[in-house]
Amino acid sequence: MCSIIGYSGNGEVAPILVDGLQRMEYRGYDSVGIATLNNGKLLIRKGIGKVAEVNASLALKEMPGLLGIGHTRWATHGGVTDLNAHPHSACSANVAVVHNGVIENYHELRDCLLKDGHVFKSQTDSEVIAHLLEHYWALKNDIREAMIHTCNRLLGSFAFVAIFEDSTLCGARYDEPLIIGIKPDGYFISSDVLGFLDYTDRAIFLDNRDIVMLERNNISLINFDGDIVNRTPTQVAWELGCADKGRYTHFTLKEIYEQSQTIFTSIHQTKPNLETFCNILAKAEDVFITGSGTSYHSALLAKHILSRYSKIRVESIMSSEFQYSSELLDKNSVLIAISQSGETADVLQSVKSAKEKGARVLSIVNVSTSSLARLSDCFLEVKCGPEIGVAATKSFTSQLSIIYYIADRVGDNLTGISTERRELSNAIEKTLQLETKIAEIAAHVKDVKDIYILGRSIHFPICLEGALKIKELAYIHAEGMAAGELKHGPLALIDTNSLVIILNPFDSTYVDTLSNANVIKSRGAKLIGISNKQDPIYDYCISIPYVKESLLPLVEVIPLQMLAYHLALYNNADPDYPRNLAKSVTVK
Ligand code: F6R
Repeated sequence: MCSIIGYSGNGEVAPILVDGLQRMEYRGYDSVGIATLNNGKLLIRKGIGKVAEVNASLALKEMPGLLGIGHTRWATHGGVTDLNAHPHSACSANVAVVHNGVIENYHELRDCLLKDGHVFKSQTDSEVIAHLLEHYWALKNDIREAMIHTCNRLLGSFAFVAIFEDSTLCGARYDEPLIIGIKPDGYFISSDVLGFLDYTDRAIFLDNRDIVMLERNNISLINFDGDIVNRTPTQVAWELGCADKGRYTHFTLKEIYEQSQTIFTSIHQTKPNLETFCNILAKAEDVFITGSGTSYHSALLAKHILSRYSKIRVESIMSSEFQYSSELLDKNSVLIAISQSGETADVLQSVKSAKEKGARVLSIVNVSTSSLARLSDCFLEVKCGPEIGVAATKSFTSQLSIIYYIADRVGDNLTGISTERRELSNAIEKTLQLETKIAEIAAHVKDVKDIYILGRSIHFPICLEGALKIKELAYIHAEGMAAGELKHGPLALIDTNSLVIILNPFDSTYVDTLSNANVIKSRGAKLIGISNKQDPIYDYCISIPYVKESLLPLVEVIPLQMLAYHLALYNNADPDYPRNLAKSVTVK
């Protein structure tokens, strides 16, 4: 989603803001803007494109001033235009705002403000914040009061930073993250620690309904009622800021390769934490598991793994649908929420619904300082390091390995994640070496319009995940399906133009899936088989090494990630920044 940043301190602010925005760009990247305060005047430059492009065309880094705010946008209200880019100023240009989230009552607020004579320049919901602040500031000449009144008028989810012509910088949050970075000589207010980690690892994570005021570098925290609040600074892991592409052309490729390590680092959990997690799980009467997108695919596989290897019955529900099923939960239920970012609005909404029913919440999350981690009764950290590529790759396999590990702790150590570690590690290394072959296959099939990915049982969630990767990275329509379902309708779609990928390892699903492959082949489709047993039926065969059946999903997803990556390159798409997407989806 959008990234916001504000800085007040010593030193020219514009380069600090631009670098911070560049660090956070993976969150959203359709337009960029900066406002600085120079000699008592607000300067604003903004335009569509990525940070580097807008900086090159508008010389953002050269804007003078020691105080400023910045934004990268992921459009929700109003098209991708220069005028809709943030910061937004009010009529008299004495205040400017950057916002992340959605103001649900903006129509109503805008109508009131229009009646009062305010003139709007953009189609965004965010601009109302600037006008409300201007309105209340003019009323009593008190910025604190203006912040409180404005926050209380806004409905929806928001984190915003406002810069005032009198050198005050303020921020406020409700259901969107906002973090203060503390330097000896200045403060950041940012939606993500990556915005300031190059400068400081001391941070205050604001709570909902918190307002931060920086007046000539004096900091104070209040809530929306005007009461003073105290929040303790914490130390953020420096490694988060160390993300770079290394020798790889894209973060996505680097992160695919990192899986040979990250699958195993995620299983080093602190013992008491793991025990608490597993005890809560083992005692639950009902277990629900939720996530969005890729994390939902982890939840689907978790259902298989936990029921098969630890005899825990689990219901998996995608987070955007969870609130409609929450009547199933009560105080004896447990919800496991899975999320890389820990900030996905749909996941946080599920957690809130579960808590309202008195259920306990466990989470599996990569960002340990995230809202999800803080809302959970207990959380396990995915520990795969920062994932910068917008498409989830290494976070998926790390989420899975934690699930295997939990299944082993609650059950009888049957998944093989610990006992077959060497075999798994070798298999992943060998699968990564298939990149050249997969790139060749991608070259042959790059022009297809539709791809179907089929598999059964534990392979079915991997089919969904592979299809999601192909859609988002290569912009090709792809569908994951349970192989047995094809004959119940989708077979009508298959013809000589179809490309079908079959997850057909030599396990309990082998024979039935192979027979599905035969049915498809006889309709003239091209077949790619991903298997540890070759069969002449496949036009292209991606041979994966042998591993224990339960662990196959961790291996077979890698060729699908690589195929999606290479199809993206052939289709001239940037695999790190798929169009229209954002890394952290903080709107519902
Ligand atoms: C797909 C992808 C998204 C995310 C989804 C949930 O590659 O990245 O589908 O998986 O938006 O995000 P998290 O896991 O951060 O809750």
